[in-house]
Amino acid sequence: MVRAGMGATMTARCRLGAWFRVGALATASILPALVCTVPAPAHAHAQSSALALTPWPASVEQGGGKLLVARGSAVAVPPGDADAADAAKLLIEHAERANGLVLSASSSAGAPIRFERDQAISGAEAYRLTVTSSGAVIAASGKSGFIYGAMTLMQLLTADAGLTGKGAAKSVSIPVLTIQDSPRFAWRGVMVDPCRHFQPIESIYAIVDRMVEVKLNTLHFHLSDDQGWRFEVKRYPELTRIGAWRNGPDTGHGPGERNGGFYTQEQLKALVAYAAARGITVVPEIDLPGHAQALVAAYPELGVPGSRPEVSNGWGIFPWLFNPNEAGMTFVRNVLDELMEVFPSQYIHLGGDEAVKDQWERSPEVQSQMRKLGIKSENAMQSWMIDQFGNHLAKHGRRLIGWDEILDGGLPASASVMSWRGERGAVDAANAGHDVVLSPAPTLYLDNLESTLPDEAPGRISIQSMETVYRYDPMPKGIDAARAKHVMGLQGNAWSEYIVTPWQLQHKLFPRVGAIAETAWSPQVAGTKDYAGFLARLTPQIRRWKQGGFEVSDSAFGVAFTATQTRGAALDAKAIGVTLARQAPYGTIRYTLDGKAPGAKSAAYAKALAVKPGTVVTAASFAPDGTALSAPRRYDTGRETLLTSTSSSLTACPRGSQGLRIPLNADATSNGPAYNVNIFDTCQADDHAPLAHAKSITVSVARLPRNWGLAHEESAVIGHYAVTPHGELIISANCRAAEKNADRKQKEHSPMPGATVLATFPLPDPKTAPQQFTFTAALPDRPELGDETDVCFQFTSPLSDPFYAVEKIVYGEKAK
Ligand code: ACM
Repeated sequence: MVRAGMGATMTARCRLGAWFRVGALATASILPALVCTVPAPAHAHAQSSALALTPWPASVEQGGGKLLVARGSAVAVPPGDADAADAAKLLIEHAERANGLVLSASSSAGAPIRFERDQAISGAEAYRLTVTSSGAVIAASGKSGFIYGAMTLMQLLTADAGLTGKGAAKSVSIPVLTIQDSPRFAWRGVMVDPCRHFQPIESIYAIVDRMVEVKLNTLHFHLSDDQGWRFEVKRYPELTRIGAWRNGPDTGHGPGERNGGFYTQEQLKALVAYAAARGITVVPEIDLPGHAQALVAAYPELGVPGSRPEVSNGWGIFPWLFNPNEAGMTFVRNVLDELMEVFPSQYIHLGGDEAVKDQWERSPEVQSQMRKLGIKSENAMQSWMIDQFGNHLAKHGRRLIGWDEILDGGLPASASVMSWRGERGAVDAANAGHDVVLSPAPTLYLDNLESTLPDEAPGRISIQSMETVYRYDPMPKGIDAARAKHVMGLQGNAWSEYIVTPWQLQHKLFPRVGAIAETAWSPQVAGTKDYAGFLARLTPQIRRWKQGGFEVSDSAFGVAFTATQTRGAALDAKAIGVTLARQAPYGTIRYTLDGKAPGAKSAAYAKALAVKPGTVVTAASFAPDGTALSAPRRYDTGRETLLTSTSSSLTACPRGSQGLRIPLNADATSNGPAYNVNIFDTCQADDHAPLAHAKSITVSVARLPRNWGLAHEESAVIGHYAVTPHGELIISANCRAAEKNADRKQKEHSPMPGATVLATFPLPDPKTAPQQFTFTAALPDRPELGDETDVCFQFTSPLSDPFYAVEKIVYGEKAK
């Protein structure tokens, strides 16, 4: 119970006590028996590392003393209680994986860990965990409550890494306490998209298995899109025979490799059961009427023009719509019947996003159907279609949810809304009495990069740090107080255009889903989120997740290096200045200057370093207990590095957003190389080119797929006039001044009027040239160009050709 108004002195003493108990796991330090209440993290900044719990519970009442749990301790469940038995099994499995604590199932009433059914606990997800010096009891009225009680106890038992290895402790001590807990929101979700890139079913199991540890309860599984249909439908085999497979995009040498796959109903039923055993509901999505190119590729008669497109190998928006005529509606109802067979979820997601309506607008058939139905707009036609399916689902006791575009033509009475284009959809729908889920882009789009570290895997570039995600509150202003109950919760989405491998999927989701889990579960106390405390509690959870080889991003803790001098000054200096920083305000940065990886005892970073030129600074973050929070990262202060720029350090030109970090090939299974690009203008700038020191320039260039479906945004792409068959790379100095007030016409000019051309290279024929190549040129003698010159790298290749990006620039140094 969180007691408001508790005295400050008392609060502080309690916090200190709790901190030592957890920190001194398995030692004999028992604090004097004082009873204190550990407030929710919102209440105080110092307390929340006290118990390594994420998400923080609704109420923690802490007593004095502790419970020793020895290796092999028994876990007992009431006879015949299958829910409790499943939860006990989870406790045993997860505790052993997390820190090697082996527990055993038992039927003994005297077991130190016991599950008890208590019908007085209200709410299927609620539980009470009571720890006394003689035992721990998890009580709940429902299956999910048992699971969450088990996970809370698991976290308490595994706060420290240690029961493995030589000399490891034989028992764990946990504090005496009572936790009474239930979630703030019912929908605590993660969306996985296996359509753009297919994910093997095992990778979904691994995610579900990690979700339960932080009490996430909804896996939104996006099962159809332009690039692949992933759900086996027995009645319509072409959906997966044809619709599940696509070619890789062409980068000049013909189509890339075949890519795809699908899940059988049997596989999905097994996944649903596995998730259910972890309190997780799998909500399937079939996306209609847009994002339907794979569907139309499989059954062209379900499309509008009747012709058969390829399954798409591009990202973005494509024109292929589902045709809502009688045959089409029957088809979808039949698909939904099979879907409901496999997925018992209350909600079925029917998409509705990003359907450009051009095909419907141009179709006499669709227009005639609209007239017959008395429907005035294509958006209203979409709402009619959604409503028809919503009614079909309702007949089977299910409910429809769709992306917020389903509001555009009038929201069908039966529908719930998932708000992604910001929060407007949620506000409007909730105020109209519909249930909503918040998953606004860009904050909860976890395919966005987490940091600017140069080793980030590909993704969208709007940096959504863990702190940004943590601070997001899913109760938008504008929802009437009486309608707040319609906010079901929040969800993080991982669209997979740039997520190819299970490693990349895990990296994007974890640990940021931990921030979502806490927001979704923990009670809210306005304006007082405690990020530092959250990081302290999340750290052991990151360790738990990583067991078994699961990838968890260290972007929040990874060290970034910034030079304190200009490159030109550094090249002439006797000492190189460098500052070290990381996003998350937790732990200590430690570094070495001898090229070795730093350890818990390496020098702690306090202020900007000044090192001998050529020194390699290697740094990582460490938690207060000495465990590494990040992999070591290196900064080489040698001349070669100072004279090199890489894609991660380039900016867009004309100035604007890079937008994307993309791989060499759309389906590449490695994390690098990756290129930061602005797909609306193929120009990259090095804003600090050391031209006073440079006599030559070598540019490494990569040819990438141009596979973006931009629909009505197509006209925003800036084309450049090519004067050789495949265009040129034009390198020009002082382009920033030139672009400042440039209108569109001037932006299309290459180089921009007023910029100084340094070199021009004709691009080779994409059909015969390798995908990566370099150009070298002597730089003209222009003494007026200093060491901080901005240099633009503009490609003028035709828009029908592949796309080009700069991978690396090396400046050849002038003799001294
Ligand atoms: C979406 O991002 N198109 C829902």
